Amino acid sequence: MKKIIIAGRSNITLAKKISKTNKIELAQTGISDFFDGEINIAINSDLKDKEVYILQSTSNPVNNNLMELFLMVDAARRAGSKNITVIIPYFGYSRKEKMSRPGEPISAKVVAEILETIGSSKIVAVDLHSPAVQGFFKIPVLNITCTNLLSDKIKSKHLKNLVVVTPDIGGTKRARNFAELLNAPVAIIEKYRYIDSNDNVKILNIIGDVKDKNAVIVDDLISTGKTLAEAVKLLKKEGVLKIYVVATHLVIPSKAKENLSKLPVEKIIVSDSININKHDYFDKLEIVSISKEIAKSIK
Ligand code: R5P
Repeated sequence: MKKIIIAGRSNITLAKKISKTNKIELAQTGISDFFDGEINIAINSDLKDKEVYILQSTSNPVNNNLMELFLMVDAARRAGSKNITVIIPYFGYSRKEKMSRPGEPISAKVVAEILETIGSSKIVAVDLHSPAVQGFFKIPVLNITCTNLLSDKIKSKHLKNLVVVTPDIGGTKRARNFAELLNAPVAIIEKYRYIDSNDNVKILNIIGDVKDKNAVIVDDLISTGKTLAEAVKLLKKEGVLKIYVVATHLVIPSKAKENLSKLPVEKIIVSDSININKHDYFDKLEIVSISKEIAKSIK
């Protein structure tokens, strides 16, 4: 069956890389905004009886990118495509996968239900904040991981006396997987996030031995950078030598230079799951591409 990729506006660069790697046609589209904020979609390539791959990171502006994705899926279904795989390198709302307090929604489940109802056949995601999100879908969900790509980057630096640090108890399994690849021990930071106050973070405690070691902080995402800043402060206080940071998703690239570039760390290594414009690059930032991993999954 002939394959075709449709790129939403959030990460055209990644869609082009995948199309080039797998020699899959990139659909001709015209996507624009109406004055009132509604999105206008036109897919000009023939989709009839084709296996369609729609790529959209539902990153900032999350709600616009989500709506654009929903409309692209609907357009592809109405155009007679055989099946529709939705590739979501960064899955917005995946941090809201449970109710922490009464009165809250389970936002990730709402997104999953809409994607399924409008006709998606399969989902491809990358390092979902919580793998439990896979269970919100009845259709197959492939959750690709960047762990090998990111750990290879750290290995290439030939660092001695390493400790892998999670800045959040919830990330312990992620850090453990990472540490196994580096043959290093794990340390766990206990974090508390204030409710209703600009995502502020307070670090409470560290479990594990970090003194005189080189630390690799592992997280799935960096958003405001407040978690990272607090973790770095604590590690420095505890006598850590050099600090490297790895995370799959850099959620707000336009703020990263301002929020992260002055941190006393050697490198911040992230993937291109969310598009990072050249003018947002800074010295300590290293970007690895997940295009080949995604390309493999749609061979
Ligand atoms: C938390 O559960 C996540 O793994 C990240 O640590 C967190 O979301 C990062 O957010 P921020 O950069 O805003 O502190």
